[in-house]
Amino acid sequence: MPNFTTLPGFRDFYPDDLAVRNHIMRAWREAALRYGFQEYDGPPLEPLELYVEKSGPEIVQQLYNFTDKGGREVALRPEMTPTLARLVGARAGGMRKPIKWFSLPQLFRYERQQRGRLREHFQFNCDILGEPGVAADAELLALALDTLRALGLTAEHVVARVSDRRLLRALLLHAGVPEGQLTLAYNIVDKIEREPRESILGRLTEEAGVPEPAAAAVLGIFAHRDYDAVREAYGGTAGVAEELARLDEYFRLLAAMGLGEFVRFDLSIVRGLAYYTGIVFEVFDRQGELRAVCGGGRYDHLLQQIAGVDLPALGFGMGDVVLRELLSDRGLLPEAGTGVDYYLVAVTADERDALLSLAHRLRDAGRSVDYGLQPRGVGKQFKDAAAARARRVVILGPDELQAGVAVVRDMASGEEVRVPLERME
Ligand code: HAM
Repeated sequence: MPNFTTLPGFRDFYPDDLAVRNHIMRAWREAALRYGFQEYDGPPLEPLELYVEKSGPEIVQQLYNFTDKGGREVALRPEMTPTLARLVGARAGGMRKPIKWFSLPQLFRYERQQRGRLREHFQFNCDILGEPGVAADAELLALALDTLRALGLTAEHVVARVSDRRLLRALLLHAGVPEGQLTLAYNIVDKIEREPRESILGRLTEEAGVPEPAAAAVLGIFAHRDYDAVREAYGGTAGVAEELARLDEYFRLLAAMGLGEFVRFDLSIVRGLAYYTGIVFEVFDRQGELRAVCGGGRYDHLLQQIAGVDLPALGFGMGDVVLRELLSDRGLLPEAGTGVDYYLVAVTADERDALLSLAHRLRDAGRSVDYGLQPRGVGKQFKDAAAARARRVVILGPDELQAGVAVVRDMASGEEVRVPLERME
């Protein structure tokens, strides 16, 4: 017998697992709808072209790509943003702005499997297109945080670490990083928390071609992590003051929404993807045990690159894998779901037709109803009812049918009542 198991990094969803996934996805969808977002989707397989260049080297190395039977170079989608840019770009002219869209795609990345990192995941994507102002940035992060709050997470559990690529750009230019090396430098400083100082220094000079004094100055900048320290050190530096003013406004708006305690400035948040141009953020668990639950930011030039349309945009992706681990670690996952509303028990074979009729009537009325497909003893039927996590058991016996009633037992309290059959609902 061949032993068929899932491929590494892929998941089976048995019903209890799927119940958790549905719980998360329900919270995602409801949060987006509360913010006035509309749902969209696209194909899971896209032209390879869509990702090369636009997403940056990190994602391109992780692509599931192949040549299809028509000779096309294709890839399973590793992220949703290029698809979204294509969709909106194609119809941007006729759409009322801002466009606020969300999606719940399954994504595929050939990553080394580890905690919180698989080769497929579901990702809640929310994006706002056509709005350049900082109010949209604040609204977007508020949606990410409110989604997490709806799942039971508080400011004691999670923190959004925020930065701005425009600020980083101004600071790196000030440090002496040549304009042409900025993108390469971003990718390296993105890892500044995870790699030793010497390695970052070496990579900045060797991989990104940053002159040595400038590389040292970059590390000096990152010694000022918190907002006040950056303001104090660089507030007077050319090009930095206006970036700080925008961030001031951003933090003020989030505080006005009552979300201030969820948000912290952190210059080391750069984001691995190539297309970000403005405020960027990642949401982490406070204990720092897991990778980011959510990441996003402003990407004002991607629509131009993909669809030739000048449309500012911003968005985030929130993955189900990390979120599920976090909710489970903090005891915030719901109990295994309750089962059917009614389990119907026939005492003898003579009540079978009445049982079928009642089952159909209740189902037509929108109740969930189950019963044994084989004739069995009453005791066995009760065991099956418990296994089906039925809230109520309806007992139909010869005496009850004679009297036109059913006995309804509430499984939680054990209480029994006799209900006329025509009043069963
Ligand atoms: P990302 O940071 O690559 O962003 O992914 C967002 C989130 O998806 C991550 O924080 C993580 O929770 C989850 N995630 C990513 N890769 C994996 C994986 N291999 N296994 C499990 N979870 C994963 C983006 O994808 C951007 N396109 C988000 C965005 C939307 N930016 C603007 N709009």
